Amino acid sequence: MLARPDYLRRLEVSTARAPVTALLGPRQCGKTTLARQFAAGRKATRFDLESEPDIRGLANPELVLGSLDGLVVLDEVQRMPKLFPALRVLVDRPGSRTRFLVLGSASPDLVRGVSETLAGRVELIEMSGFGLDETGAPQWRDLWVRGGFPRSYLAASDDDSLAWRDSFVSTFLERDVPQLGISIPAAAMRRFWTMLAHSHGQTWNASNLARALSLSDKTVRRYLDLLAGTFMVRQLQPWFHNIAKRQVKAPKIYLRDTGLLHTLLGIPHDTALLSHPRVGASWEGFAIEQILRVLRPADAWFWAAHGGGELDLLATVEGRWTGFEIKFSESPSVSRRTRASAKALGVDHLFVVCPAPRTYQVSERITVVPLWEIGSLRERIGSV
Ligand SMILES: Nc1ncnc2c1ncn2[C@@H]1O[C@H](COP(=O)(O)OP(=O)(O)OP(=O)(O)O)[C@@H](O)[C@H]1O
Ligand SMILES: [Mg+2]
Repeated sequence: MLARPDYLRRLEVSTARAPVTALLGPRQCGKTTLARQFAAGRKATRFDLESEPDIRGLANPELVLGSLDGLVVLDEVQRMPKLFPALRVLVDRPGSRTRFLVLGSASPDLVRGVSETLAGRVELIEMSGFGLDETGAPQWRDLWVRGGFPRSYLAASDDDSLAWRDSFVSTFLERDVPQLGISIPAAAMRRFWTMLAHSHGQTWNASNLARALSLSDKTVRRYLDLLAGTFMVRQLQPWFHNIAKRQVKAPKIYLRDTGLLHTLLGIPHDTALLSHPRVGASWEGFAIEQILRVLRPADAWFWAAHGGGELDLLATVEGRWTGFEIKFSESPSVSRRTRASAKALGVDHLFVVCPAPRTYQVSERITVVPLWEIGSLRERIGSV
């Protein structure tokens, strides 16, 4: 069992602070396992909303849940969003000390309004598969190739890992999507997801995709929203700056888990990955996920201007406007264009994140950092 101390710590803080904690993340990322670990040694009651007896047991939720104290874990809440108003009534009762931990594999938008219904009473923790902080830095290559889903990452061989991911994709399309009450033909969705994999790291162009798939713009948008709402895809929004250049206005699309990306691109192992034309894009998405996971900024963007100039990631960290340029090179060069972009956007510091052997400063405002040292990035940003 791989330890997940950071998530456990965050659960500790959140359940002490808020009456409801929502732990949300993709299918199979380890939510139930983590909640079990967290509940061990505490007074806790658990309901699984995918289990018929548990669902029947919750026919009168206010009555049943109202009689419990300690920690109440409600697993698979996306199956019963109508529980949220009941939770609100319960936590608003004077003197209520019950703490709820709800787990779900769909985002608040899809669960429709957990944050609205429970405004001021809920803290959201977004979970994903394993990260470098959990696997340890030396495992970066396995984590990159196989992705972070525990069963994929920990598989006994690359073949087993790939087989697990193949069946994950099928189950997702054939079972999980319909269970959310969304009717999309599995074959069309698979084609869409595969096409997205091929344009991983590029800006969203609904018309191109719609034309290629013989679907309407509106339909491909709906498919994208579904993949984003189930944590499969990240849409990185563009930053606008008040400069003369014409700037890119569409979001960039990344498949959040590189293991699934490689499955959809037909990349079975690291040798194939390293010679694949999309290796740079795959690395970029991997690095972005790891950086956001460690730094957890309130918001993040990319920036690009038509006709040149681009920064892969921009965020405010420790009060500093920080830029990231991601390169798949051991000794990256920082182009004049990148320097000019950072300057034009007024970034306090630019980090070039790459598989370099060590951290080094390029200039007063530019530092090269190996991806596996991003754990210390927060302190570094505070001190530059
Ligand atoms: N920390 C861990 N170390 C090793 N294996 C893990 C860990 N966490 C989860 N797993 C394994 O990964 C698989 C998925 O875990 P789990 O059921 O907790 O995920 P989940 O997010 O609740 O999935 P679902 O959305 O399908 O309910 C399980 O086989 C579990 O044993
Ligand atoms: Mg679960």
